Amino acid sequence: LDDLLAEGVSGRRVLVRADLNVPLDKQTGEITDDGRIRAVLPTLGALVSAGARVVVCSHLGRPKGSPDPQFSLSPVAGRLGELLGAPVHFATDTVGDSARSTVAGLADGEVALLENLRFNKGETSKDEAERGAFADELAALADAYVDDAFGAVHRKHASVFDVPARLPHVAGRLVLREVEVLSTLTANPERPYVVVLGGSKVSDKLAVIEALLPTVDRLLIGGGMCFTFLKAQGHEVGSSLLEEDMVETCRNLLERSEGKIMLPVDVVAAVAFAPDAEHHVVPADGIPSKRVGLDIGPETVAGFAAALKGSTAGGPTNARTIFWNGPMGVFEMPAFANGTRGVAEAIAEADAFSVVGGGDSAAAVRQLGLDEKSFGHISTGGGASLEYLEGKTLPGIAALEN
Ligand code: 3PG
Repeated sequence: LDDLLAEGVSGRRVLVRADLNVPLDKQTGEITDDGRIRAVLPTLGALVSAGARVVVCSHLGRPKGSPDPQFSLSPVAGRLGELLGAPVHFATDTVGDSARSTVAGLADGEVALLENLRFNKGETSKDEAERGAFADELAALADAYVDDAFGAVHRKHASVFDVPARLPHVAGRLVLREVEVLSTLTANPERPYVVVLGGSKVSDKLAVIEALLPTVDRLLIGGGMCFTFLKAQGHEVGSSLLEEDMVETCRNLLERSEGKIMLPVDVVAAVAFAPDAEHHVVPADGIPSKRVGLDIGPETVAGFAAALKGSTAGGPTNARTIFWNGPMGVFEMPAFANGTRGVAEAIAEADAFSVVGGGDSAAAVRQLGLDEKSFGHISTGGGASLEYLEGKTLPGIAALEN
């Protein structure tokens, strides 16, 4: 971005690809976490101050290539305007009449937001020509392109991959910071390096576990995915989440892990998946049938905390680098939030550089009222940060480097 600013952007139309894919309340449609909007403000603020005519574009949710009111970015335009302290002009389409006239009407230092990119088939199309045609229309709205959508850099979509081939292109402040931070984890993490993984599915995390196992000193596993590992250890898991077809894979990972993988020793088991369900702490190797594990138990939290910020028998002491992705339990329900809270607090207190992988874990930090400043970095990328750590080539980053 500094390179572009140095060239001078006053009066130029700058297209900023942002990831404004924020969670909305299902009933009221209100934004429940504006973290991703705030994360893009440094880039937008710098462009506004330099007198650019700023055209912001983003996806929201997964509409199917045509307009769908429940995925409109209109509420995001309102919130973005509040945060910027100046109204944001909203175009009711992405590349049509409304977009063209809104952009044409921008004065220097003003900001417009285009309607959801995914209301257009070309955005996500696998067909290069269809994607290219949409990228042509988007690129025609601007003189330069800034990618600040870290959460979407793993998508080979028109606004991420094809537009930068058509315009002078740079990385925004957020993309730069995310890449700088995540590259320290892949290149040279200070040791001990401890990774905490949770979330519901092993299958979603398999690639990152494979990639991280040789590099990390400890891998702590909680959340819904731990039950498939517990099953692989030969334990019954009642009616807890289980991926039968992954049990063998987990067994194999445990065998190859050289003792680095730490699993729960106790879990909170409930009679049903419900906020007010009767529940008890049970040993991880004694989950009764018909009980569902919805959180890690207190002994596990203490063990994980010791691995993060204290000494553990035979293990590393005082993690110096921590990466955390995925909640430890169903933290949206207060009765099953203690595991996520306890582990998050231990990460915050550890004398380590800590990175929170985006998505649910970033939302958990904010929803549980934890101080964001006690973490080294809270990524805006869920899938993107995991794919970065897997060492994959990310289309959005490759397009910028080109
Ligand atoms: C995310 O929420 O991880 C990003 O906004 C990407 O969204 P997607 O998974 O729908 O592409």
